[in-house]
Amino acid sequence: MVIRARPEVLIPGGFDDGGVPFEEMISRPFKRLGIYLIKANCSGMKGLDRYRDVIPDFDLFVEAIRRPLPVTARINTLKTDRDRLLSRLRGAKVAFTPFIWYPFGLRLTVEKPGNLLESLMGQIHIQEEISMVSPVVLGPKPGERILDLCAAPGSKTTQIAMMMENWGLLVANDPANTRVASLRSNCERAGAVNVVVTRYDGRRFPDRGFDRVLVDAPCTGQGMARKDLKVLDRWSLKRSLGLQRLQRALLRRALQVTRPGGAVVYSTCTFAPEENEGVVSWALGQVRGVRLEDASVRGLAGSPGLAEWEGSRFGDEVERCTRYYPHQNDAGGFFVAKLIKE
Ligand SMILES: C[S@@+](CC[C@H](N)C(=O)[O-])C[C@H]1O[C@@H](n2cnc3c(N)ncnc32)[C@H](O)[C@@H]1O
Repeated sequence: MVIRARPEVLIPGGFDDGGVPFEEMISRPFKRLGIYLIKANCSGMKGLDRYRDVIPDFDLFVEAIRRPLPVTARINTLKTDRDRLLSRLRGAKVAFTPFIWYPFGLRLTVEKPGNLLESLMGQIHIQEEISMVSPVVLGPKPGERILDLCAAPGSKTTQIAMMMENWGLLVANDPANTRVASLRSNCERAGAVNVVVTRYDGRRFPDRGFDRVLVDAPCTGQGMARKDLKVLDRWSLKRSLGLQRLQRALLRRALQVTRPGGAVVYSTCTFAPEENEGVVSWALGQVRGVRLEDASVRGLAGSPGLAEWEGSRFGDEVERCTRYYPHQNDAGGFFVAKLIKE
């Protein structure tokens, strides 16, 4: 619904600068004037409202989206060990709370975590809690051949290198020139020395025979709204469907380059089923001999994948995927699927 509006007058602070919570933003014009809605600012809300019937405790979900993300970091065991790092933080009077579900994750009470000496030295990596999930589900082992198909800026690459204990081959691929610079410097700071950086379009990645492949796909990023509310405003079904084509091709290539018996993890930070179950169920139909494994993580709350959405039937198997909503763990939003190639 679009009715004439002058948002800057009606909503001081506006949606774009995060000054007004968006529920209030929607209701305030109605309360005061009864008629106004703002076209530019409402598309973001519309992008979330479509999930009202599938997200549990939708009101809590909306409330969580309004709050900023907690500051979180991952202990990098390539540079230090957990006990030593925790006692350093105590000594520096940095308050922290370890994650329940992952021994290397910490919530920090510090304003500029990137300025901590431990971060500059690569002993911790500032990383959103929910983004640590996909390497954990992938389960890389020392000595394996792993491909991180969409790797920059390298949060998950450095986590995978740590899980591999720097032993084996980790190919970190990303075609984006500027982002590859951050990928390289993050690997260097983390002391990840088993990483080879490549810059292929992942849809045409040339090598084969990987034990495990991570596809942390480019997406509409709705799950990152707590970091930047503007992502909601940028969402449109057209964008989701445009990305779906790329995501499908990336996942298909990932399955092709994985050895029989190997695993592929597909993850996004969006809620859009078109980019999640719509990609996974398509890939199951395209590549023979692929099945889904449970992608949930013990100690972390999540919801099953959606078997259907707006008339599209994805199939019961996709319920083995996991959707993580911000209010469930006070973190970002995420989707993870684990595919096994038989
Ligand atoms: C969600 S981000 C990856 C974040 C990264 N995994 C991390 O944890 O730091 C998605 C990445 O996909 C990359 N990308 C976009 N198009 C691609 C393509 N055709 N092939 C491979 N990667 C692509 C983008 O450059 C972007 O860096």
